[in-house]
Amino acid sequence: MRRALVLLLPVALLAQGGGAPRVSDEAYGTQPYDRYERPQACATCHVDIARQHEQAMMSQAYTHHWDEIEYFELALPHAAKEPKVADVEAGCNGCHAPLALLAGDIPPKPPKAGTRANESVSCDLCHTVTGFVGDVPYNFNWVTQPGKIKQGPRPGVVSPHHETRENSFLRSAEFCGTCHNEKDSWGLFVKSTHLEWLEGPHSKGGVVCQDCHMPPAPGRSARMGSELSDLRQHLFHGAHDPGKLKGVAEVRIHPESREAEPGDTVKLTAVVVNAKAGHKIPSGSAEERVLWLHVEATDAKGRTVHLPVDRTGFVDEDLTIASDVLAYQDIGDIKGIADFPGLKRDGTYATMKPGDRIFRLPYLDPKGRMTIAQWNTAAFGTDYRLAPLAARTETFTWKLPQDTPPGPVTVTATVYYSRLVSSVGEFLHVPAEEWEPVQIGIHTTVFEVLE
Ligand code: HEC
Ligand code: HEC
Ligand code: HEC
Ligand code: HEC
Ligand code: HEC
Repeated sequence: MRRALVLLLPVALLAQGGGAPRVSDEAYGTQPYDRYERPQACATCHVDIARQHEQAMMSQAYTHHWDEIEYFELALPHAAKEPKVADVEAGCNGCHAPLALLAGDIPPKPPKAGTRANESVSCDLCHTVTGFVGDVPYNFNWVTQPGKIKQGPRPGVVSPHHETRENSFLRSAEFCGTCHNEKDSWGLFVKSTHLEWLEGPHSKGGVVCQDCHMPPAPGRSARMGSELSDLRQHLFHGAHDPGKLKGVAEVRIHPESREAEPGDTVKLTAVVVNAKAGHKIPSGSAEERVLWLHVEATDAKGRTVHLPVDRTGFVDEDLTIASDVLAYQDIGDIKGIADFPGLKRDGTYATMKPGDRIFRLPYLDPKGRMTIAQWNTAAFGTDYRLAPLAARTETFTWKLPQDTPPGPVTVTATVYYSRLVSSVGEFLHVPAEEWEPVQIGIHTTVFEVLE
């Protein structure tokens, strides 16, 4: 199916006199802004869809504060001084401000200038995509054919404003993958949400991105449209939606035995499950996310101790166990700060203690230090994230102190999530809402200490 699509596209374009489709970086400057309609034009008829899209992150992919900070304060200065990453001056925009890349308006003016870069991932960009070029969707290798014809999911749809064409590509995960897989200058997939999905159980079961991020509900897509039983909601909710995050990592914990005596060694096992996402968690911007498991025990007198996770001995395991070390020194290189010591690798969270397990994919810069600059990633550590519909067990071995009072010991396992390492957020003055941790899973178990 995909092969057929790829073979047909160039022919379709040739028929229009366009030559072979130019995609990814080669699409630079091929389409002036005015070939695309503004979202406000679509909103006059597609009211609910427009209101949904306005509050989804994709309509703010260029204007959102953290995106603005990372592009203008890190990526652009880095591109100017380091030839290896010079491509990101244009490249970031292929996914975050695609109309600006297509128009050759690079670098776009900052959001406050109000240019059309601010439209970010807009209605008319997605609905003029006809397919993609190559075998793997990544780095905005979609083909866009702007104009009167809007690509949509259904056949024979009539609109007073435009023509419509049924295009099954919009219903595929590959469509999303064109921007949700990113390959950097070292050839590494530094974002691979679609590839994670592809190797997971949801792709085998035919459940695509749209099913979870654009679920169907009865309604009309336009004011004068027909009543549909399965109108695709343009929610696109992800890590910025507290409800989507809640429960995304489930946790259960149990002791090996329900009874123990002071001085005994107790083993507790926590099971952490990614039961809700169709890809790994964290996915996408995994270089910035912090997902951790924190376990505490409280004895009958109300004294609380923190239990560090047992090590299992895999390569680079240290990178997944919370500690006070520094990282992200490349921020100093990029910003030209002499002798920059780095920032706390695991953030500054009150709810994290050294020894907590962190479920992460460590991104390593060319000098082997952890980085939050995905474009500056030359290697990875061990991928210790949570795969979809799979569980991971962690054990906690605890020698009970001799003075443990008799009675119940309550053990609580909590999973927390933060979108951006807090130390980096604080240093770059990213608003706290971007990195404040949220609790996404919790469970408590009890065992009895005998006299
Ligand atoms: C990120 C890409 C993207 C953006 C942005 C986007 N759409 Fe869509 N839209 C889709 C996809 C994908 C589908 C089809 C989903 C499916 O059927 O699986 C769709 C479906 C639709 C449909 C048909 C719905 C149905 O169920 O029949 C309409 C109408 C539509 N979009 C209008 C809009 C408008 C108007 C905007 C801007 C306010 C917009 N879209 C923004 C990707 C997008
Ligand atoms: C004057 C009103 C009007 C405007 C403006 C308008 N549309 Fe539509 N559009 C419609 C109607 C009506 C339908 C048919 C809805 C139905 O019957 O389900 C439709 C259908 C669609 C579909 C669905 C095609 C399918 O296969 O299901 C898409 C996609 C779409 N419009 C995209 C857009 C985009 C993108 C814009 C802005 C660039 C836009 N529309 C502007 C009225 C409008
Ligand atoms: C079974 C439902 C399901 C499927 C299928 C699914 N997702 Fe998700 N997705 C989720 C949930 C739940 C979250 C919230 C967890 C999170 O943010 O990590 C999420 C989060 C995300 C995020 C934010 C990730 C992060 O950690 O920042 C992106 C981006 C995303 N999904 C894109 C996609 C794309 C693209 C596909 C298809 C290749 C897809 N999703 C398939 C359920 C799903
Ligand atoms: C033209 C590129 C492009 C396409 C195509 C695209 N996305 Fe995105 N998507 C982005 C960018 C860029 C962001 C990051 C927005 C930001 O800056 O936070 C994003 C963010 C998201 C998020 C995270 C929202 C959150 O709460 O943090 C979800 C979920 C998502 N996209 C789903 C999808 C799905 C599903 C599809 C396919 C139907 C899709 N995207 C197609 C570029 C794209
Ligand atoms: C191949 C497409 C693509 C390219 C190229 C790309 N991004 Fe992104 N970016 C995305 C997607 C998709 C997301 C959302 C992932 C998620 O929600 O986990 C994202 C997320 C982000 C975020 C985080 C927003 C948040 O949710 O916390 C920032 C900041 C960002 N990108 C900046 C950049 C910069 C700077 C560049 C260039 C160096 C760049 N991006 C290049 C697709 C891309």
